Amino acid sequence: MTQSTTSTAQALLKTDLPLPGRRQGKVRDIYETTVDGKAALVIVASDRISAFDVVMENGLPGKGIVLTQISNFWFDRVATELSGSISHHLISTDPADIDGISDEQRASLERRVMIGRKTKVVPIECVVRGYLAGSGWKEYQQSQKVCGLKLPDGLRQCSRLAEPIFTPATKEQSGHDENISFERACELVGTELMTTLRDLSLKIYALGHDHAASRGIILADTKFEFGQTEDGALLLIDEVLTPDSSRFWPAARYAEGRDQESYDKQYVRNYLEELVGEGKWDKTPPGPALPSDVVQNTMAKYLEAYEALTGRELEL
Ligand SMILES: Nc1ncnc2c1ncn2[C@@H]1O[C@H](COP(=O)(O)OP(=O)(O)OP(=O)(O)O)[C@@H](O)[C@H]1O
Ligand SMILES: [Mg+2]
Repeated sequence: MTQSTTSTAQALLKTDLPLPGRRQGKVRDIYETTVDGKAALVIVASDRISAFDVVMENGLPGKGIVLTQISNFWFDRVATELSGSISHHLISTDPADIDGISDEQRASLERRVMIGRKTKVVPIECVVRGYLAGSGWKEYQQSQKVCGLKLPDGLRQCSRLAEPIFTPATKEQSGHDENISFERACELVGTELMTTLRDLSLKIYALGHDHAASRGIILADTKFEFGQTEDGALLLIDEVLTPDSSRFWPAARYAEGRDQESYDKQYVRNYLEELVGEGKWDKTPPGPALPSDVVQNTMAKYLEAYEALTGRELEL
């Protein structure tokens, strides 16, 4: 670790830009704009943190910057290495390209904004798993299947799969996303599109997995989103291969048959499970405030992930 994690900066919890179409995801604030006459989105990663699909009362100062920079790193690689297969939504990361906001507002967006092509989001979460964790492990224990795919018996928690598998989920407007079979996903959005998305997802996972492996990190699983532009182009959208959308594990400490240490919000989830155990929270909104040690430890993990994956340093 080269980066001090005792930053006293304030967390950016919400933005209020004088732009149309404002909506708020759990983590990002989104506005509409146009770039070269085409519909675009201003996507601002706030410092909000969600766990169990609930946003916590306080944020993690700088988290939005770290996540945006990780996504940017991967968008670049996807553009370079898979240029013939898929394009992404990113047009610019420079707040100077946003019309109609003040210099002060531009400064607040520095390193945490993506200006992306506006798309119609395909309502399927394109999940790829190379290892058996989370809801995949849960399903396997019940049925030896994940999203309708039969797996060999004898697999253990976090076992590496012989081949990465594509395990789609619905994108629920509210509540938890639900794992579905590939066939069901085809019924929902069409077989041709879904087959394309599956093949692309597996390709991008492989790219991420191999790069991460070269940096001593296991990319256990991840989720991609895709969208279609008005002129019919299919684009990789949203965030890519970040600790919020993926499970990254330090390879040196990996062992199957147990939970793994990870570069993500495990501290937050552990803390929240304690609260739940004590009957102080029931996993419904509003989320509780996170104590400062949980905030600092989690930020340290995000920064460690950034530095390990990119080989670069980030000043917050
Ligand atoms: N290029 C794009 N075009 C249209 N929508 C996009 C694009 N990129 C990202 N989005 C959408 O912007 C939102 C990002 O916000 P955020 O990740 O905070 O939402 P969320 O609470 O995770 O909701 P969701 O579960 O829908 O992702 C997502 O709904 C995502 O689908
Ligand atoms: Mg999201």
